[in-house]
Formats: sequence, C-alpha cells, structure tokens
Amino acid sequence: MDLQFNRHRRLRKTANMRALVRENRLHTDDLIYPIFVAEGQDIKREITSMPGIYNLSLDHLHAELEEVVSLGIKSVLLFGIPEEKDACGTQAYHDHGIVQEATRLIKESFPELIVIADTCLCEFTDHGHCGLVENEEVLNDESLDLLVQTAVSQAKAGADIIAPSNMMDGFTAAIRAGLDEAGFENVPIMSYAVKYASAFYGPFREAADSTPQFGDRKAYQMDPANRLEAIREAESDLVEGADFLIVKPGMPYLDIVRDVKNNINLPLVIYNVSGEYSMVKAASQNGWIDEERIVMEMLTGMKRAGCDLIITYHAKDAARWLKEQN
Ligand code: PBG
Ligand code: ZN
Repeated sequence: MDLQFNRHRRLRKTANMRALVRENRLHTDDLIYPIFVAEGQDIKREITSMPGIYNLSLDHLHAELEEVVSLGIKSVLLFGIPEEKDACGTQAYHDHGIVQEATRLIKESFPELIVIADTCLCEFTDHGHCGLVENEEVLNDESLDLLVQTAVSQAKAGADIIAPSNMMDGFTAAIRAGLDEAGFENVPIMSYAVKYASAFYGPFREAADSTPQFGDRKAYQMDPANRLEAIREAESDLVEGADFLIVKPGMPYLDIVRDVKNNINLPLVIYNVSGEYSMVKAASQNGWIDEERIVMEMLTGMKRAGCDLIITYHAKDAARWLKEQN
C-alpha cells in the first residue's frame, strides 16, 4: 500500500496522548457562580425551572458560600430580590438594599471571595424594565443617573467588580465617571456589552421576579439576528472604559464570542444563562442525556470559542467534577 494520507489518529491513541495535545482546558478559576439573594427571613426557595438554584435570604447565605469557597470557586455574581418594588427601583441604590447588605456580609466572612454586583433596575422596579419608564418607553439618559447611584452604593458596600446589565447607551462611561468621582477608581467594570434580547432569560425572570409588566426588552437589548452590531457594542464599551466584556447568552452565540475575542483585547466573559441551564437540567432529570459529560463539553466549547471566564449556574457541579478528575 503506498497511499499518502495524514494519520490524525496517532495523537488520539491514549488518554495521556490526548492530554498532551489538548488545546483548551476548563479550570475552576474560570467559573463565576450567580447567587440570588432575597430580602426577608429564612428563605430557601428553589426556582421551579432551575433545579438546584435558590432564592436565599441572608441567614442562608453563609452555608452556600462555604460550599462555593470549599469547591475552589473564586467569584460570585449577586442578584437581589427586594421585598418592595417601585417605579424607579429605589431598592437597587439604597445603601441598605439587599445586594449591598449581602455584599457587606460576604466581605466580612469571606474577604477573599470576589463579589461581582449585577447593576440593573429590573429586579427592583414594579414594571420590571431595566430603567425609568415614561409612556411605556424606557428612558436612556434619565436611567443612567440611577444606575450610577446603584453602582456607587454597591462599591461602597465592598463590591469588587461592578457588572452593569441594563443595556442603556453610555452606561459604562457614566458608571466609570461616577465610580471615579466617588473614589472608586480601582473598582473594575465587567460590562454586559453584548446582550441579546433572548428567550433564554425566561427562567431567570422567574428567579429574579423581573418579568417586564408590559412589552419586552427589544428596544434596548440586541436583535439575535445581528453579528456586526456585537463588535460595535463591544468597541464602545472598550472606549468607555470597561475592564471585562460579557457576551450573553452563551451557547447559541459562540460565533459572537469568537468575533469579540478576535477584535477586542479585553478579558472576555460568556454568560451561560438560565434557559440553557434549565434545558440541560430537564433533559438530564429525564435520563435523556449524561449531565456531567454534557455540561463539561458545553463549558469547554465556550472556552474554545474564545472566552476567558464563564458565568454559569453549573459552576458548583463543574468545580466538583473538575476536582474528581484530578
Ligand atoms: C437583568 C438580567 C437578566 C439576566 C441577567 N441580568 C435578565 C434580563 O435581561 O431579562 C439574565 C440571566 C439569565 O437568564 O441567567 N438585566
Ligand atoms: Zn435589567
């Protein structure tokens, strides 16, 4: 036989050989775990569409954090569920709001753990939109003032990173200026720069009780059909002073992750969102898929697409599986 062809299988023969040529590896340091903190006492409410994920009141937070830290996870992303909501989302920027209180508590007990505060109004407004509303329209510049107040109060409480998810134009510039003015020039911004108007946020809206009471978010979040627009969004956040960029959702947007990685030189974060988690959980609870292998393959695929960090509800499981592998 004098056939000429490449024998790619030479490098796949054994586990050690495959490890030698592996191009991408998931690491626990890459994982950011989202936590929903709720105002009130003795709340540990599982989110129906997100098995294993809870609304937790502060008295239940310590146990959760002990687990997170013992698994080697180094950062958490906080969302707040207030008892009272109003038209301008007062509890988002109140010094004793739930995210501010949770942040203080975490920094007291686990000072090394990185607290990332989600900066938005939708969990705190009675209409469920991410900004101020007038005649059923979400106002841009008027909302920025409240978002700046929110970010500053989160930084005051000790947040290590501010993560604005509201998609108002200019939010990064406004928040950067506001943080600097308040003396927080060393607090970084992890911007949800590229955020699509997605049906994959459905379960989150149950978890955060933040479903818009009228209309949708298409007038501020991006059209899922657009690719070039992602670069424009990412570029403006770079110019405005973002320290990290987020692409969201994750799995259906891996092309966007690669585009942003190739075009913008900033640490890149992917948000593996609630609907992606729910689908995996539902299928694995039915015995239709192998949860561990599916999750690890998905998260590795996200790294391969070009992200540096992954915000994921699977973080605790993934950290546990990574530990078991070593
Ligand atoms: C709020 C916010 C949302 C998510 C993160 N921050 C929902 C939305 O914009 O409707 C989605 C997260 C998820 O689905 O896991 N601005
Ligand atoms: Zn919002």
